[in-house]
Amino acid sequence: MNKKDLEQYDNFKFSQENNILIESILKKYPSNQSASAVMPLLDLAMRQCNGWIPESAMKEVGKIIDVPYIKVYEVATFYSMFNLKPIGKYFIQFCTTTPCWLKGSDNLLEYCKKYLNIDINETTKDGNFTLKEVECLGACVNAPMVQINDDYYEDLNKESLIKLLENLKSGNKVKIGPQLKERKGSESVKLIGKNKNAK
Ligand code: FES
Repeated sequence: MNKKDLEQYDNFKFSQENNILIESILKKYPSNQSASAVMPLLDLAMRQCNGWIPESAMKEVGKIIDVPYIKVYEVATFYSMFNLKPIGKYFIQFCTTTPCWLKGSDNLLEYCKKYLNIDINETTKDGNFTLKEVECLGACVNAPMVQINDDYYEDLNKESLIKLLENLKSGNKVKIGPQLKERKGSESVKLIGKNKNAK
């Protein structure tokens, strides 16, 4: 993103639609505890800014919940899902915590880096993919897995990962969730393809 494109984010204001959502978010907290809304408001700001949160948006969030900017900044920098610089169209969060690691996430990540020709925390030249390494995303039973934008892609191997990236890049439909044929959710792998009602 060039300097001119970035300037549009200098004076961030929530959209009318998001202001309505903010009203309903704030109603979930006691009026003297609106600081608790910091994360949903940062999330809204990030969605409005195509996946990242400019400084002006953190300041705006601080104003709305009456919290100093630095406190909002502390939250935004603590959690890996908040991006503080522009990202690609597809934000890949690659889990490498123990269960995913035991199922080969390190090798997969290396393969992914090579395929996309980028390192962790970088974006591909075509602006399609940003890669980030993250801690457990809570889908260990379907390890190894990645989160891309709002969706999980699980039970990955080299072939299914590359196929997924290729399909995303070409705008083809992709299968969300387990990439193993016939596996539904986190059902036992042993049950795949079997008549589960058979005694
Ligand atoms: S360790 Fe990867 S989802 Fe939990």
